[in-house]
Amino acid sequence: MNKIDVLLGLQWGDEGKGKIVDVLTPRYDIIARFQGGPNAGHTLEFNGIKHVLHIIPSGIFHKEKQNVIGNGVLIEPYIFEKEILALREKGVDVKENLFVSKKAHLILPSHRMLDAANETYKGVSKIGSTLKGIGPTYTDKIARLGLRVGDVNSKDWSKKYIALKDSHLRLLNSLGFTYNSFQIDGLNFDDYERKWLRALDTLAKINLIDSEYFLNEALKDGKKILAEGAQGSMLDIDFGSYPFVTSSNTITAGVCSGLGVSPSKIGNVFGVCKAYCTRVGSGPFPTELFDKDGDKMRDVGREFGSTTGRPRRCGWMDIPALNYACMLNGVTHLILMKIDVLNAFKEIKMCLNYSIDGVETNKIPYDLNSVEISPVLKNYEGWKKNLEGIDTYDKLPSQVKLYIDTIEEITGVPVAFISTSPDRKDTICKIQI
Ligand code: GDP
Ligand code: IMO
Ligand code: MG
Repeated sequence: MNKIDVLLGLQWGDEGKGKIVDVLTPRYDIIARFQGGPNAGHTLEFNGIKHVLHIIPSGIFHKEKQNVIGNGVLIEPYIFEKEILALREKGVDVKENLFVSKKAHLILPSHRMLDAANETYKGVSKIGSTLKGIGPTYTDKIARLGLRVGDVNSKDWSKKYIALKDSHLRLLNSLGFTYNSFQIDGLNFDDYERKWLRALDTLAKINLIDSEYFLNEALKDGKKILAEGAQGSMLDIDFGSYPFVTSSNTITAGVCSGLGVSPSKIGNVFGVCKAYCTRVGSGPFPTELFDKDGDKMRDVGREFGSTTGRPRRCGWMDIPALNYACMLNGVTHLILMKIDVLNAFKEIKMCLNYSIDGVETNKIPYDLNSVEISPVLKNYEGWKKNLEGIDTYDKLPSQVKLYIDTIEEITGVPVAFISTSPDRKDTICKIQI
């Protein structure tokens, strides 16, 4: 029986997962998202056009492939509908090849109000959430209060919806807000709710499935499946820099619960990382740069959030974090992104260890949020060359190869692909899979 391959981010999100899923899709029959929701922004570029996906898997541009939104994902129907309409305008009709788990939970308009209220209430200690309602919706899921996609077609849907919404409004009041304290996507609550409710019709017309059966039967039939992660391992609810994390398991373990496949069915694990690091939102970032080098990474790498447009914080490659992520995920292959962003640097640095109170460690400390960490940096010579047009590993400058060798040596994981531009065609294959 085939196994399910996994592709996920090893840093703080935005590693370039969308591009690589699109590149790898021709090798698979099904692409399946297993967690997160519209907090994700996955960018794909080909034929000179850029596409950003939030809820829909990144295999959607390959007409003959199936795309599944698993039970572990959160769906916001209004955003989902907008995404479908944007794809339709580009000539992509999702009717035939998009499937949604009936068990996926719904983000209600009032969840988004609560997300905004929680963040405002926290003030300076806010998480920097994407304000898509992720935290409150997963909270309701765990509290056994949530509504699921399959509920939309149930007889008592309205009753269930109103009951949950009313409980949210009471919570909002207790935080000192009213149902109209915040605009959502530029709309007041009533207008937004009207659009949200109307969008349920679009959702109901999509192929709603029991995705755990769909995927396990597909594996039995010899189909090849790639699970697409959202966010990154350092934003994982259990292992990230809690509480500055998202509310789901972003690591390989999340594939089992988010799609209903057993651990014994996990195959290759592709860990995607940038050649440097970025983070958007609050929370610790040991290698963060506050100087010209950080600005240069942001400018050259166009490091602005795909979902929120916020500038991303930038810093050098963080090896303790990368090793941690490889360990947690069982990464079998690394995929190194945005190496071209370092073209202009005379010298490139890599953080090999953390120094905490004068003691060096290669482990992520429990109190990451409160201790003072100095990154122990090692310098590498830059290549100061444009990498455009380089299509094989052999043709890469020796300094790039040394940088890659070092990462492979330290992590013990081979690099399978190297990405040199946002475009799907600029992807170098180092080892055949
Ligand atoms: P994701 O959330 O992991 O899918 O990543 P995002 O799409 O949020 O962010 C990655 C950004 O980097 C997008 O703007 C991509 O178009 C861009 N990108 C991906 N790979 C490369 C690369 O190799 N070089 C450059 N310069 N940009 C890249
Ligand atoms: P992709 O899939 C980068 C961050 C937010 C915030 C924290 C919690 O595109 O890599 P949430 O809205 O989930 O409650 O926000 O997590 N965050 C991301 N950062 N890429 C993402 O997704 C992210 N999704 C959430 O900025 O710090
Ligand atoms: Mg992103």
